[in-house]
Amino acid sequence: MPGIESEPLKFAYWVPNVSGGLVTSDIEQRTDWGYEYNRDLAVLAENSGFEYALSQVRYTASYGAAYQHESTGFSLALLLATQRLKVIAAIHPGLWHPGVLAKFIASADVISGGRAAVNVVSGWFKDEFTNLGEPWLEHDERYRRSEEFIRVLKELWTNDHAEFAGDFYRIHDFDIKPKPVGRPHPEIFQGGNSTAARKLAGRVSDWYFSNGKDFDGFSEQVEEVRGYAAANDHAVRFGLNGFLIARETESEAKAVLREIVEKANTDAVEGFRNAVKQAGGSTSDKKGMWADSEFKDLVQYNDGFRTGLIGTPEQIADRAVEYKKRGANLLLLGFLHYLEDVEYFGKHVLPVIRAKEADLERGAATPEPLVTSAP
Ligand SMILES: Cc1cc2nc3c(=O)[nH]c(=O)nc-3n(C[C@H](O)[C@H](O)[C@H](O)COP(=O)(O)O)c2cc1C
Repeated sequence: MPGIESEPLKFAYWVPNVSGGLVTSDIEQRTDWGYEYNRDLAVLAENSGFEYALSQVRYTASYGAAYQHESTGFSLALLLATQRLKVIAAIHPGLWHPGVLAKFIASADVISGGRAAVNVVSGWFKDEFTNLGEPWLEHDERYRRSEEFIRVLKELWTNDHAEFAGDFYRIHDFDIKPKPVGRPHPEIFQGGNSTAARKLAGRVSDWYFSNGKDFDGFSEQVEEVRGYAAANDHAVRFGLNGFLIARETESEAKAVLREIVEKANTDAVEGFRNAVKQAGGSTSDKKGMWADSEFKDLVQYNDGFRTGLIGTPEQIADRAVEYKKRGANLLLLGFLHYLEDVEYFGKHVLPVIRAKEADLERGAATPEPLVTSAP
């Protein structure tokens, strides 16, 4: 994919469609999981520089999230409320038939003028499957099923006579009309960072989402996934999760982080820590989301503090541009007080990031001056 490194960094936000906000803490969170709040937020976000929103999928109470709106229906509602925002619905293979989902997303894509996308999540929450009476596959089998699921989606979205014969799905001479309008098809994001997840991204996903990571933790994934993609002649882009706390001073921002962690809901965080042992940590190489997370990291469900987008607009912009240099095409952001923080981001953080990206471009275009001896 030539030239994608020089594209402006893209931004997505986590849709707060589950109750309790994005951190498992009793700190005040001026964020609401209901529709009206989310509709206003989506409109504000698209006017504040966000290109994407990601709706979470959760079907029943989990750790700190007692209420949830369903991801695909909620995403369609947000698409209808906005003009430009692309909305990514998280979905689980194993709880959807890929043909039924392909049909739903095709309609959502046509209705929204090509703004529908999916995030394929292979799952860590065993009870959600077993309490619905669905089998809970072993970790790498879940990923094998996800690969077939993605291949079926693409086949149905792009072929009039779709055919697929796999271990999990069989499709014969199937035609969905209307086809989606997004070209070549609605974008397919992938959540999951284990070795199986990395190989999956290198074969079929359009986007690989990393959990929150420091610079080296992010680079390590980019290198490995790019290697798999190159071997398969496949192009993949990278999104990185981060919980953003921007304040006028660094000490104010750090004080907010301290308060979040001090007021953590310990039982919920510990319950979550126990449940996510089903993720990459359960595999032989123990790589994956949360495999090395500490208590403090898990207070944000997706290790978002590790990305370090916490400080002044200037400090956050410096880190954002460094992640871009290391291969990030998109930052996926979570906030404490969504409406206020998204507005602040658009007004005070994004312009600094754009200015630093422009400097970077100029630097790349201008040869380094010859360093001569001091005057
Ligand atoms: C950005 C992102 C978003 C995710 N969203 C969800 C979600 O909404 N619901 C869910 O059950 N899992 C979600 N996951 C986790 C996936 O289910 C993931 O496949 C699982 O935790 C296993 O990860 P592993 O490959 O590290 O084992 C998400 C992961 C990432 C990186």
